[in-house]
Amino acid sequence: MTKPQIYLTRPLFDAARALLTEHFEVEYWQSAERISRAALLNAVREKEALVCLLTEKINEELLQAGPKLRIVANVAVGFDNIDLPACTKHGIVASNTPGVLDETTADFAWTLLMAVARRLVEGDHLARSGEWKGWDLDQMCGADVWGKTLGVLGFGRIGRAVARRSKGFKMRVLYNDAVRAPADAEAELGAEFKDFNTVLAESDFITVHVPLLPETRQLISTPALARMKPGAFLINTSRGPVVDEAALVAALERGKIAGAALDVYENEPFIHPGLRRPNVILAPHIASASVETRTKMACMAAENVIALFAGRTPPNALNPEALEKKQASD
Ligand code: DGY
Repeated sequence: MTKPQIYLTRPLFDAARALLTEHFEVEYWQSAERISRAALLNAVREKEALVCLLTEKINEELLQAGPKLRIVANVAVGFDNIDLPACTKHGIVASNTPGVLDETTADFAWTLLMAVARRLVEGDHLARSGEWKGWDLDQMCGADVWGKTLGVLGFGRIGRAVARRSKGFKMRVLYNDAVRAPADAEAELGAEFKDFNTVLAESDFITVHVPLLPETRQLISTPALARMKPGAFLINTSRGPVVDEAALVAALERGKIAGAALDVYENEPFIHPGLRRPNVILAPHIASASVETRTKMACMAAENVIALFAGRTPPNALNPEALEKKQASD
């Protein structure tokens, strides 16, 4: 019996490819350069499944280019690269990889928070430069973290994992989310629900963990930055367009906030040149990038595809209603 054909826009990891090879005829993009749009549109022509990355736009054009597609499995928890209604309209299931990257991403939010507060990157540059003249009393003084107030915007799995880590630092934790967390979660994490403006005004560190939605686009723009506590820091490991980069640059230039640490950008891989400042840490969208976690993400995407072809609803289907639509049209 011939196996269904699947296309992977990256080789993924051996473990994920091995899972897929058992069930599918696997073809994948092998060049170190990113797959071009034209190559991707061509690659999906005969394929029944696609495993893709957040850098690939899954829209009407792509779905039309792959008329046999039954599933698009994103190797990411965020799925703002996918036009979900279009997938549903075509009876194509889309899936993501929630849960497996929460702790790794929370670790990295803390990496950024500590590094920007304690000026680690500046210190590293000085230490490597050959210009360091030795210990000095007022050299590279940053901000304390312990005992300060942490403001978490978006209190889902990742936001809570970040809050959990603040306990060892004896921090006060404030949060805001569209939905208030259950009382037991608030109690476990010692977190206080506050309105958006209060979180901004009272926090020394604002860490952003909202998904990119129309209502969160530019959530942090000029008015929000103006409300932040003077001398506070902004950390963003969610999605770039949640922060208005030009407004952030203006706030940094005015000294309104003390610094920022970013993993994501409005128009990746472009980064606003005004962000190249000593008090800004710029990471290349690597919050979930541990070998273990990225392997788990790739395997999870593979499992979603395998489930669909085994006649099951993929465990991380974002639009399970697409299955009914497909059945009705078959
Ligand atoms: C995601 O999964 O959405 C991250 O941005 C990459 O891990």
